[in-house]
Amino acid sequence: MDLEKLLSDRLAQAFSAVADGPVDPVVRRSQHADYQSDAALSLARRLGRPPRDIATEVFSRAELADLCSAVEVSGPGFINLTVADPALGRLLSRMAADTRLGVAASAAPQTVVIDYSAPNVAKEMHVGHLRSTVIGDAAVRLLEWLGHRVIKANHLGDWGTPFGMLIEHLLDLGESEAAHELSVGDLDSFYKAARAKFDADDAFKERARRRVVALQGGDELTLRLWRLLVTESEKYFLTVYDQLDVLLTEKDFYGESYYNDMLAPVTEELDQLGLLRDSGDAACVFPEGFAGRDGQPLPIIVRKRDGGYGYGATDLAAIRHRTRDIGATRLLYVVGLPQRQHFEMVYAVARQAGWLSPPAMAEHIGFGSILGSDGKMLRSRAGDSIKLVGLLDEAVTRAADLARRKNPDLPEAAIADVARAVGIGAIKYADLSTDRIKDYVFDWQRMLSLDGNTAPYLQYAHARIRSIFRRSGIDQFTAGPISIGHPAEHALALELVNFGSVVTSVEHTLEFHRLAGYLHTLAATFSGFYEHCPVLRAAGEVRDSRLALCDLTARILHRGLYLLGIATPDRM
Ligand code: ARG
Repeated sequence: MDLEKLLSDRLAQAFSAVADGPVDPVVRRSQHADYQSDAALSLARRLGRPPRDIATEVFSRAELADLCSAVEVSGPGFINLTVADPALGRLLSRMAADTRLGVAASAAPQTVVIDYSAPNVAKEMHVGHLRSTVIGDAAVRLLEWLGHRVIKANHLGDWGTPFGMLIEHLLDLGESEAAHELSVGDLDSFYKAARAKFDADDAFKERARRRVVALQGGDELTLRLWRLLVTESEKYFLTVYDQLDVLLTEKDFYGESYYNDMLAPVTEELDQLGLLRDSGDAACVFPEGFAGRDGQPLPIIVRKRDGGYGYGATDLAAIRHRTRDIGATRLLYVVGLPQRQHFEMVYAVARQAGWLSPPAMAEHIGFGSILGSDGKMLRSRAGDSIKLVGLLDEAVTRAADLARRKNPDLPEAAIADVARAVGIGAIKYADLSTDRIKDYVFDWQRMLSLDGNTAPYLQYAHARIRSIFRRSGIDQFTAGPISIGHPAEHALALELVNFGSVVTSVEHTLEFHRLAGYLHTLAATFSGFYEHCPVLRAAGEVRDSRLALCDLTARILHRGLYLLGIATPDRM
């Protein structure tokens, strides 16, 4: 059902016959025709023939009559394809009749572990955790929709030396006061107060140190206090997830402590494989090919002299668990770019140890920073890290104002729903619509704008189509056959048939800005169609076909935004 693939397959046959071997015809959308192939140009040298000759021969051999209304060779050897309206009509009619909109589930479903969100206990989530949560959530939705078995792994920072000082601070405050501070999200002041005492007070420091030893030794009381810190922080994180409308639940917390029992066997195995080396105050692994600025090999710290394990050791245990015990073949780590090298090193060690071998693969889904209008890392006015809950609340408040201005007739109860969808959607979309590798500037004005590549624009486009159906008097619309005639219908059809290939490309690259960009182009093309082609005022089959085009567009917008984690209210 994927037009691009159909065209590509047909041209591939012709090209392969001409080149006497497989050729990727590189079929792309083009300004000069609906689609263009420029493969003849790159083949010219290999075949020692002028590219135009090759293109002309491919042109005469290719069987495209049922798909194209015009095929021509242009310029130095491009092949330009104009897709036939009846072919578009056939493809769209099939898409419209399919609840999956023509997007088949994966023929090779995988078990995928997505490591994302991962805030730290008793510490405010920062905007980096926001990005990880939003991108990871989109990955979960998209891969699940394509039929993969997805395991959401929230690698909470819930273990390590800071817990000595955190537990001692908890004891100073009293359990109930501490629990209260944490559950209402006062994580930053809790953490900072503990840190301040740790830095200023030697007696406290000593208590904290002893507490770490007790924690590692499994002391009952200490473990109970530790659990209290974890539970209260988790409660707080869950309120953020709820507000953010992401799929993470309490079942998805697989914090660092989850791997504690695996650390000794992992260390043992590394040792037996001859990978472990003593570097003075820790047992380390030095993966090949990683050196610091001084040229010295870089270590993954496995076990420190005091018996504690490093962050990297936990990641090694997690990989081994994910491939061996869970049977995952795709491991995704949605973590900021500063940790890229850490993950490359961990993957290298895991490969050496035999815990990450084909078909299993690990990918770092890295992302840049969120910047303030000053171009520096986004911070509050006081220079602290931004409190996420405050940011999300502000988004919803701003969106409520927008909704009231846009539609004064909307009842206040509906405003609340719309505000949430639009406010949270705007934040997510601003994130997902930029190439994730890049930094982006957090800008309320732009993300909440009703025109441009924004969530409100797309949500509004969707709601506007739904309103056509409300006005149509049709109760339950079922699409009949679609036929394409008008150039604006043709343009819309070309976008609609492309949905599947965009989704499958994002399945591999997890470049959500490509899906976002696609949805934006679709909505803009729809608006051109709606301007030029009367729908409710048309009659008979034309009206039915155009309604079916409207419905298909709305369903793709709805599904596409859902895959990005964004809600689509029916009215706005
Ligand atoms: N808790 C870490 C942080 O806040 C992120 C953890 C990422 N995942 C992992 N498997 N290391 O930086």
